[in-house]
Amino acid sequence: MQKLKEEVGLLLSTYVSLEPAVIEELLEAPPDPNFGDLAFPCFTLAKSYKKAPTQISEELASALAGKKGLYWNRVTAGGPYLNFFIAPEAYGREVLRQIWEQGNHYGHSDIGKGRNVPIDYSSPNIAKPFGVGHIRSTVIGHALYLIYKALGYNSIGVNHLGDWGTQFGKLIVAFKRWGKEEELLADPVDYLYRLYVKFHQLAEADPTLDDEARAWFKKLEEDDSQAVDYWTRFRRLSLENYALIYDLLGIQFEHFHGESHYNKMLDDVIKLVQEKGIAEESEGALIVDLEPYGLPPVMLRKKDGATLYITRDIAAAIYRKQTFDFALSLYVVGAEQTLHFQQLFKILELLDFEWSKACVHVPFGLIRFKEGKMSTRAGKIILLEEVLERSITMAREIIEEKNPDLADKERAAIAVGLGAVRFGDLSNDRIKNIEFDWEKVLDFSGETAAYIQYAHARICSILRKASPGYGNWSDQASSLLVKEEEVTLVKTLAILPEKIIAAAEGYRPSILARYLVDVAREFNRFYHNCPVLSSAGELQQGRLLLIGATRQVIANGLALLGIETPEEM
Ligand code: ARG
Repeated sequence: MQKLKEEVGLLLSTYVSLEPAVIEELLEAPPDPNFGDLAFPCFTLAKSYKKAPTQISEELASALAGKKGLYWNRVTAGGPYLNFFIAPEAYGREVLRQIWEQGNHYGHSDIGKGRNVPIDYSSPNIAKPFGVGHIRSTVIGHALYLIYKALGYNSIGVNHLGDWGTQFGKLIVAFKRWGKEEELLADPVDYLYRLYVKFHQLAEADPTLDDEARAWFKKLEEDDSQAVDYWTRFRRLSLENYALIYDLLGIQFEHFHGESHYNKMLDDVIKLVQEKGIAEESEGALIVDLEPYGLPPVMLRKKDGATLYITRDIAAAIYRKQTFDFALSLYVVGAEQTLHFQQLFKILELLDFEWSKACVHVPFGLIRFKEGKMSTRAGKIILLEEVLERSITMAREIIEEKNPDLADKERAAIAVGLGAVRFGDLSNDRIKNIEFDWEKVLDFSGETAAYIQYAHARICSILRKASPGYGNWSDQASSLLVKEEEVTLVKTLAILPEKIIAAAEGYRPSILARYLVDVAREFNRFYHNCPVLSSAGELQQGRLLLIGATRQVIANGLALLGIETPEEM
């Protein structure tokens, strides 16, 4: 809590030769709460005082012995640290007051000062199904989008659609040869994908198909109207399909600038690279040698003049800098593209773009579905739509069984179903591969969205039953929370703001997800040990304020992961 830090900063500045603001910066949370709630590390002073940090902390502790502040009531030396313990009455009151006053904004801040952060995420490939690989990018990218926004950055969602490349030549050939209009319209993405697979199977025996496809892609690059018509249609039909998924997930992108958007900028990119002298012609192709940096070479242009994925990414990076003048530019893309991004950022650096340092690849591991109805077997693609629908169906069944009288079962089923998929992903450290297990992600007592949502709904139900007196703030009542479970819950609620910042800084929504599990767990422990509605008078009001604040923290936190919090479930 900021007020405690300010108080300690001011206090210590009268004992040591540091400014209050500097002290505040140095203060940290002790690793173990038994050591205290806020620690001042004495290392910084050792040099100028010519004393061991342990000795400094001991001297400070004895100078402060028996003293008390407003928000702290005890101080001890623990090795090189000076440890402060909070005064639960004032501390609890201030934490709850802050949450009460800031409501939906609690945890938010304006450290971003409106600066732009384009976030490249989801980015599926046109005419291919939105597969599981893109689930993670969509879910993680969207969470980062929301988290950065909450910190006062201007998040800009960019969907870097895979809408260019030789595969479009193949698709045109396949559709011209075997395509049926009715089948295309019935289920465009699925149909186009099947045509694509068929093309590959037949091209193995008949390589002339590939020549034909190359010729069509060339036509497309030369703006041939027939080729462009096909491409435009395939793209539009795919986008209509993705739109259903994005709507269901409540995701909006500021830009759908796919790879094709950068076509007209590629000549300039090639020119720039040549002027800078970082590329060599080799048998008609244009290559950047990255060997001095321990990276494989990069081809920017093939000998037939065609450009590549990375050429378009160079153009896109420059375009984003020019258009958004970003503070940070994120790419939420699977770890299998790590090398691609290393090469991309290195080339930007060699082009003397100072801002290449602000480009960050946010990688993640693979997702696999555990054996059962939806297992990931070789060659079998799992569609995101199917995953989401299945999750909602399972949530509906569980809710039907647990709470048959619930008024708005459908809303709860959607919130729990979508929450399970999102949280099942986000609660894992993103870099790890995850095995998606339906039993686990929908377990109401496990470390799941449903567990947290259920704590939220439970609080809402208690608050509905409470007397209308709950609606009032009370300094008095909020200062009565001194039982261990109450104090621990207050302390947990106090750290939402720093958890949001940590999640943003590490590009790790999992930090926030895991924290919310702690909040729900601490709430349950509190509720098990401290009666709310049956306690009397002011204590009841204090506890109602505490659970009201808990509800707020859960709602704010889950919202940043894109997860809804129904009032009943
Ligand atoms: N469409 C690509 C794929 O599915 C992801 C694009 C990621 N973004 C980027 N700027 N390269 O693999």
